[in-house]
Amino acid sequence: MTAPLTILRYPDPRLHTVAKPVAAVDERLRDLIDRMLATMYEAQGIGLAATQVDVHERLIVIDVSEERNKPLVLINPEITWASPEKRLGEEGCLSVPGIYDGVERSLAVRVRALDRSGQEQTIEAEGLLAVCIQHEMDHLTGKVFVEYLSMFKRGRIKTKMLKLQREDERHAQPVR
Ligand code: NI
Repeated sequence: MTAPLTILRYPDPRLHTVAKPVAAVDERLRDLIDRMLATMYEAQGIGLAATQVDVHERLIVIDVSEERNKPLVLINPEITWASPEKRLGEEGCLSVPGIYDGVERSLAVRVRALDRSGQEQTIEAEGLLAVCIQHEMDHLTGKVFVEYLSMFKRGRIKTKMLKLQREDERHAQPVR
């Protein structure tokens, strides 16, 4: 059994850490990948960046398939092309539970990355996958999607998240 990892929640300042490149695709990294995938599936998310589990290396996992059986692993991803055409779409994030809002993203992207065996791969993505890749890659630069929203909206979200956090902490109190 792979134990799920704890997902950092906005406005945790650690979410703003800039990730460093992965130095080696080895057993340690593959173990982290498996744990991140398990964490993403358990949380019913379509993507998770290492930043969100407090590991500051350039690694993301994604699965936008309906059957939840097509995991995509991107190590040291770089966007080599992004379509000039953009679209406003609704996004959410496992680090900002319950919040959905519009973000403008390129319709299509081309991304170069290593896969879990360390092989270089180039992915041409459009639609939901393109949005997800851009969203997760933002995490690696310390950016959470709510930072695209107005200061007013962001303030409200921050207040809501802190309130949720306090409630969770209360529920987590041991019974004496
Ligand atoms: Ni996210």
